[in-house]
Amino acid sequence: MALKTKFTEAFGVEHPIVQGGMQWVGRAELVAAVANAGALGFITALTQPTPKDLANEIARCRDLTDKPFGVNLTILPTINPPPYEEYRQVIIDSGVKIVETAGSNPAPHLPSFHDAGIKVIHKCTSVRHAVKAQSLGVDAISIDGFECAGHPGEDDIPGLVLIPAAAEKIEIPLIASGGFADARGLVAALALGADGINMGSRFMCTVESPIHQKVKEAIVAGTELDTELIFRPLRNTARVASNAVSREVVEILNRGGKFEDVKDLVAGTRGVKVYETGDLDAGIWSVGTSMGLIHDIPTVGELVSRIVSEAEQIITGRLSNLISSDERENVA
Ligand SMILES: Cc1cc2nc3c(=O)[nH]c(=O)nc-3n(C[C@H](O)[C@H](O)[C@H](O)COP(=O)(O)O)c2cc1C
Repeated sequence: MALKTKFTEAFGVEHPIVQGGMQWVGRAELVAAVANAGALGFITALTQPTPKDLANEIARCRDLTDKPFGVNLTILPTINPPPYEEYRQVIIDSGVKIVETAGSNPAPHLPSFHDAGIKVIHKCTSVRHAVKAQSLGVDAISIDGFECAGHPGEDDIPGLVLIPAAAEKIEIPLIASGGFADARGLVAALALGADGINMGSRFMCTVESPIHQKVKEAIVAGTELDTELIFRPLRNTARVASNAVSREVVEILNRGGKFEDVKDLVAGTRGVKVYETGDLDAGIWSVGTSMGLIHDIPTVGELVSRIVSEAEQIITGRLSNLISSDERENVA
């Protein structure tokens, strides 16, 4: 059995489950495992230091799977922006047919992607941005609630309200993101009006995820309380693991510090060390509140088939039993 939704139909994937872009984590091994499990994974373009490296990473992923996968292009306003057009051209030339955009308005990139027959899923954190992206012509929306790892935006609306509020306004396929880690979440997202779920933290904690075992063990040991929101006063909030570094960043900025004062603490070169060496206090690393729902380190295949089969059991078992018991009472 499989769960068929507007999303699985439009994107030609077996299961309504997405592995969104993850800086340092979204590499070929993980993305191919997600594809082989029948879900949709995204290579994170900017994890690759140059556009040429991205081309190699896409080729490496192709060697590991013959199923569809995509590339995430995170467009962030930075002082020294990466060569976005070159990364975009590499994606187009590679023949990949699905892109996840995030970070800012996808408009400058849409015509090139669409001309190349590429479907674009735009990830955003508010209903107004979702509506805007839909009007620009993106092919699906992924909406990230306050629970999520990475950038939850500044509105602080959790998924329980954000997802149905978005579903009221979005006609194209809608992916619910942030805080999803198991079958209960998938069924809840479908009930709230979404056509699938996106998971970051949960996929990060799998056998194929290319990060140090100690980080995965820390996610299993962690709870929903063990994240920090950094950069709040700068209105560029990011949800990351609570550790010595993130707590120091929060404290400095709360005291009125400026970005310059925390720049070295939050450097990507420090963050990547966490994943490479397993030193949990080496720098900033992203994880969401769904950490409280993650209790094991399965293979991606085990994880996806568990979520799908348990979701089917919840729908055909527990939920439909609720209806039939009412009907029995009515008959009696
Ligand atoms: C380690 C990590 C790195 C991430 N990096 C990115 C990124 O570069 N671009 C992006 O669009 N989202 C990024 N995200 C967000 C995820 O794609 C996804 O939206 C989020 O993890 C969903 O919340 P969850 O962790 O509760 O599942 C990252 C998430 C994690 C856990």
